[in-house]
Amino acid sequence: MTSLTADHVRLGELIDTFAGVSERDTSPGVTRLAYTPVERAAHDLFAEWMSSLGLTVWIDAAGNTLAERAGTDSGLPAIGTGSHLDSVPHGGAFDGVVGVCAAMEAARLLVEHDVPHRHPMRFVVFAGEEGARFGQACTGSRIVAGLTGTVDLPEKRDAAGVSLADAMVEVGFDPAAVEQARWSGEDWAGFVELHIEQGSVLETENVRLGVVDTISGSTRLRLQLTGRATHSGGTPMHLRADAMAAAAEVVLLIESLAAGEGNIGTRTTVGKIDVTPGSITTIAGRASLWVDVRGTDADHQRNTAQEIVTQAAAVCARRGVGFEHEQLADTPPVRLPDAVRDELAESCRAVGVEPRVLTSGASHDAQQINNVIPTGMMFVPSKAGISHDPAEWTSVEDIALGTTALTTSLIRLDAGLS
Ligand code: GLV
Ligand code: MN
Ligand code: MN
Repeated sequence: MTSLTADHVRLGELIDTFAGVSERDTSPGVTRLAYTPVERAAHDLFAEWMSSLGLTVWIDAAGNTLAERAGTDSGLPAIGTGSHLDSVPHGGAFDGVVGVCAAMEAARLLVEHDVPHRHPMRFVVFAGEEGARFGQACTGSRIVAGLTGTVDLPEKRDAAGVSLADAMVEVGFDPAAVEQARWSGEDWAGFVELHIEQGSVLETENVRLGVVDTISGSTRLRLQLTGRATHSGGTPMHLRADAMAAAAEVVLLIESLAAGEGNIGTRTTVGKIDVTPGSITTIAGRASLWVDVRGTDADHQRNTAQEIVTQAAAVCARRGVGFEHEQLADTPPVRLPDAVRDELAESCRAVGVEPRVLTSGASHDAQQINNVIPTGMMFVPSKAGISHDPAEWTSVEDIALGTTALTTSLIRLDAGLS
């Protein structure tokens, strides 16, 4: 057992503190959306905590907050860990927060036990990980990985029509400058992220730690169905162009495209529909559907998205309803490097757990960071697999065990990486 053991009471306090940083009057759950003042307030708490430990703290042009503890050997690239502090609307207190609190506790352990390390250690909070507001997930980590740039920011809009570029300006960032945040592979040796599983494999198998081999990709669409808003009493059934009825058929079609035999793990979800004018006595004139296609096979994921567009267009044509579509995001699945995974697995064994190797159904900053730095990911169990919901929960004991394993992995990577 390593002597650097995470303190579950401190971790619980940190998680509770972040849970208190939420939009007013949005109960239940935590609402701390990407590029909002409440997300920035959570980053500020992280920055203050890391400064109080004596680390050097800075905020980059994308809104990511970084803290560094210097290494003993000059010129070596950094080893990093971290996650995100934004949430979905009415989300839980653990998604992203666990990885950030683990980074804070790892930093405390290194500082208070005066542990030397050769490489600089960097602790990172990525901005805007959730795709809930702008469709595209992982904005901060995609910017540092060179996958999202200035040109992409005006195109992404939230439900109120605010562009990602304007949202960044509102919280003090210059969208024209985001490329300055880009990371160079030469400056980094490795990166590891701890996260809640957001599924039920670990709980079902009664294993307290998981190591991720593959992170699912996600293709996201907005479908716009345009019918005719007319009187619900005056319009005969055969003279309708009902956007609501077309949307209902399209939702079931989308579900069936992933439920079929031969599906290799692709998941399809319509998580949001807006219908106008939204009156009991008016046939729906318009319906917007937000569709998320997740997969571990890039071709299958993208072919399913294409099939949704083709078949939904046919449903609408048959019903005399107009159809348009827009791709909001497209991220392929990623297989994480074996070498980092092996280090994480050894770190789990060092705390007495043989880890379950598993696939992540959710997207993560680690997925983007792996484009520039060899990256690994570790999971702790989620109660009943619930996430993106106020009922999301992981015990502080499991979070502490994961944090101890994560800290061990930082030390192992420091010893093993050049
Ligand atoms: C991130 O939480 C995702 O939606 O996968
Ligand atoms: Mn997350
Ligand atoms: Mn999430």
